[in-house]
Amino acid sequence: MALVIGVVSQKGGVGKSTLARLIACNYAASEWRVKIADMDLAQGTCTSWNRRRLQNEIEPKVAVEQFLNVDDAIKTGEQYDLVVFDGAPHSTRKTLDIADACDLLILPTGVSLDDLEPTIKLAHELKKHGIYPPKISIALTRAGNSDVELAEGMEYVRSSGYHLLDGVIHEKTAIRRASDEGKCATETSFKSINEKVDQLVQAIVNRADELGKK
Ligand SMILES: Nc1ncnc2c1ncn2[C@@H]1O[C@H](COP(=O)(O)OP(=O)(O)O)[C@@H](O)[C@H]1O
Ligand SMILES: [Mg+2]
Repeated sequence: MALVIGVVSQKGGVGKSTLARLIACNYAASEWRVKIADMDLAQGTCTSWNRRRLQNEIEPKVAVEQFLNVDDAIKTGEQYDLVVFDGAPHSTRKTLDIADACDLLILPTGVSLDDLEPTIKLAHELKKHGIYPPKISIALTRAGNSDVELAEGMEYVRSSGYHLLDGVIHEKTAIRRASDEGKCATETSFKSINEKVDQLVQAIVNRADELGKK
């Protein structure tokens, strides 16, 4: 039975695909057999990214497949150690299906109230629909240069009662450039960025372990 991690939000552009690829590559680097279930059929972001990864012969390899249904993805997951769902925006039903199927559900969000408010609203909705609250974790992605803004964003999440993952992804051109080459956010050309983003990866691995599966 594969570990299942979902990355979802109702908004586009918050970093779902970036985070899904980051998780997939880092588990794959530890010899896990990893599949990304690309649920955003309109964009196919991870699917196109993986084509670039293959073309550029970047290791470790991860498998990416597009799915219409969560159940179909879970079935193929039998051959994998980890399935990472890259969710589609504006898709309440599918978000709930992913949440149901996951061991750990990550909601990436920017640090502005424009991003934070709908993120916490989604977490509340998932809880209302019976999703076990501790498996919902919030990740701060696309953070800017302001420590004050970041601290306020962290406080906003903490006061909501949901688990805030340690570590943060800052907005960096190098992360976009890495993605253009089929790399993830810990595979940029800058060691300092990779190490910083790795803190979030470790927090995700720890949280997944805490929730009971290895
Ligand atoms: N930390 C970051 N730094 C720079 N660009 C980023 C970062 N995170 C995401 N992006 C860029 O922002 C856009 C949206 O990110 P993406 O991960 O595709 O979001 P989503 O899947 O939520 O729509 C993409 O162009 C991506 O390369
Ligand atoms: Mg996406």
